Amino acid sequence: MSENLIIKGNNKQELYENLLQQIKALVEGETDMIANMANIAACLKDTFHFWWVGFYRVVGDMLVLGPYQGPLACTRIRKGKGVCGTAWQNAETVVVPDVDAFPGHIACSSLTKSEIVVPIINKGAVVAVLDIDSEKFDNFDAIDRKFLEEIASVLS
Ligand code: SME
Repeated sequence: MSENLIIKGNNKQELYENLLQQIKALVEGETDMIANMANIAACLKDTFHFWWVGFYRVVGDMLVLGPYQGPLACTRIRKGKGVCGTAWQNAETVVVPDVDAFPGHIACSSLTKSEIVVPIINKGAVVAVLDIDSEKFDNFDAIDRKFLEEIASVLS
């Protein structure tokens, strides 16, 4: 696939549909998970200008910071801690409309207002999470959830 991202669509749904096809093509010929995470983070940032978008990988009994786009972030998160550790523990997506209302939220940036974390599941186990932060409240809806879960399944 070409290394140019084509950002096309009149609304969020169309942007995601278009992006998903390009991500599938991008990942198809590449088996290295970290390389694929790096490109997916870049594609999501370029398309939606999220405040922070990236991955934490399960390494032993911790989540460890992986490829991302955005400001500095905490390096390690324990299982069950914060939004990321909760998504890992429950093996399901967590949508947080207001991070201050989420008990135990780990604030890497004081500008983050809402967040979505999607687990990446391989052979029944969570191997990583996709974490996206927004500086707007309530920025993630059912469309984000659906397409981000599809993007996560591309990495499985
Ligand atoms: N807010 C996350 C921590 C990671 S940063 O947002 C990049 C959490 O509560 O798990």
